[in-house]
Parts: sequence; structure tokens; C-alpha cells
Amino acid sequence: MNPKPAQYYLNRSKGEYEWMESRLSHYVSKMTGSEWDVVLDFGCGPGDVTKNILLSHCPNLTKIIAVDIQPDLVNFAKETFGHERIEYMILDITENTPPQWGKMFDKVFAFFSFHYVKDFIKFMKILRGVLKPGGYFLSLGLASAPHFSTWLEMSKTEEWKEYFIGIEKYIPATYMSKDFCTEFKKLSDECGFVPIAVTSSVVPITFDSEKQVMDFYVSVLPEDNVKQLKLENFDKFLEDYRRVLNKYGLTYNADGTVTTQTTLLEICLQSTNSTN
Ligand SMILES: C[S@@+](CC[C@H](N)C(=O)[O-])C[C@H]1O[C@@H](n2cnc3c(N)ncnc32)[C@H](O)[C@@H]1O
Repeated sequence: MNPKPAQYYLNRSKGEYEWMESRLSHYVSKMTGSEWDVVLDFGCGPGDVTKNILLSHCPNLTKIIAVDIQPDLVNFAKETFGHERIEYMILDITENTPPQWGKMFDKVFAFFSFHYVKDFIKFMKILRGVLKPGGYFLSLGLASAPHFSTWLEMSKTEEWKEYFIGIEKYIPATYMSKDFCTEFKKLSDECGFVPIAVTSSVVPITFDSEKQVMDFYVSVLPEDNVKQLKLENFDKFLEDYRRVLNKYGLTYNADGTVTTQTTLLEICLQSTNSTN
């Protein structure tokens, strides 16, 4: 995601928020343990979900530590969605976790950030290390979406390929895998977790207008690629971006709204009590 925090969260569809709220309520109600939790929000982005959704679903928690790899997003989150129980930090948790975090968290949440994880075994070892025995990991996010197919297709065109060099690193393993849920369940079991749910479903997500959907999909373009776009090319780029996105599942409704078909992924794991 490129660091245009306001563009990203202001153009998100209501449907995506409603889905997060409803799935979060469902899973949190099943989680046992203390009410006074210490919680980690992995990949907090602009912080609106951390404060407006996560905090309100865990009202009695002690603290949320919310981390993101992008300094601009963390600074925006601190300024815009600050709260006495939220500590925002710039951190790549796949590379580095503070030593004092050992077995510190009751729950780790990831909203639309798990698809950035490349090395699942390493990630699960980190989760095992920071979660208390019996603690939970809940990820609500993307398995597949029209923009991934669009990026791959545009990366093969003469006109735009130079802007998509290295795009593969932004295409999630969940998009590439034929049966991600079965494979991931097995892996999580081997890594010391009880898989409570690993499911995916195609969910229609409706945006209020074409402008909203395009602003949203521009905001998720990786920064290394967009920042190379020369301004005079930008309109032509947008036109082609829209055309290819349309091909991969945008439906224009009679009332002016636009619906996309997105595959959403729910992962809920519980760390076992075993010591290995
Ligand atoms: C699509 S955004 C979602 C943000 C927020 N959770 C939400 O739902 O609005 C995903 C975020 O994950 C962050 N991210 C990706 N890999 C990360 C890592 N290894 N450590 C911390 N943050 C990461 C990205 O910088 C990005 O801000």
C-alpha cells in the first residue's frame, strides 16, 4: 500500500467495514481468556480500524500495540486515531520483535495485512513467540482481489511494464495457491496452533461511485511503482488501470454504485499450551 493514508481509509467501502465488524464480533465472542488483554494489531495502516473497530470490540483491554512498517502511516495514525490505550509503533514484525514481547500478548489481530506475509513458517514462529499459551491470532483480510490480476496483466504490457518491475512481491501467496485454506490449516497445526477457522469466500463489495472505487485502487498501488509515474502519463495510466480492473470483476450498477468481487479470508488460530 502506498502511504496516502487518508485516500485509503476514506475510500474504503462500507461493506468492508461491516464485514470486519461482523466477523470480529463473531470470533471475539468465541475467544476465552482475560478481559484485560494486551493486544497486538499487525499492519495497523492509518489506524482507523485499530481505534474505531478493534478498540470498540475489546472495550476492557489493557493496551493495543499497533505496528506498521510505514512511518508515514504510523505518524498519521498517531495524529488522527490516537487513544490512551493505543501505542502506535513503526515496526516490521517479520524482521524484529522487541525481546520484552516474549509471551506478552493475549491476542494478535491482522486486518487486511496478512496477505503481505511471505514466509508463513517464520511468521507463525514469531506469533508463537509473542502470544501467551492459549492466545489467539485472528486475521480478517484478502485472499484475492481484482487489483492483483490487474497488476500482473499490466506488468506484461510494453507501455506499463517498467512501472510494475518486482510487482510479484506484492502478490499474495493466497492469490497464487489453489487450496490455501487446506494447506494453511495443516501448516498452522504443525507450527503449534489449533486452527479454529481458516475459510475463504467471495464477497461482493460495493463502492458508492466509480470515483471512490478508482481512488481506493490507486491508494493500494505499491509506492515503489506509483512514485515512478510521470505526471503527464498519469491520466493514461488511470484509463488503462480502470479498463483492466473492469475486466477482473467490477460491475457498474444502475444506481451509480460499483461492485467488486473480492475473495475474503478469515483465519482464527489458538496457540497451543505445548512448549515447543
Ligand atoms: C492494506 S493495509 C491495512 C491497514 C489496516 N489494518 C486496515 O485494515 O485499515 C496493510 C498494512 O500492513 C502493513 N504491513 C505490511 N507488512 C508489514 C510488516 N511486516 N510489519 C508491519 N506492517 C506491515 C502495510 O504497511 C500496510 O499499512
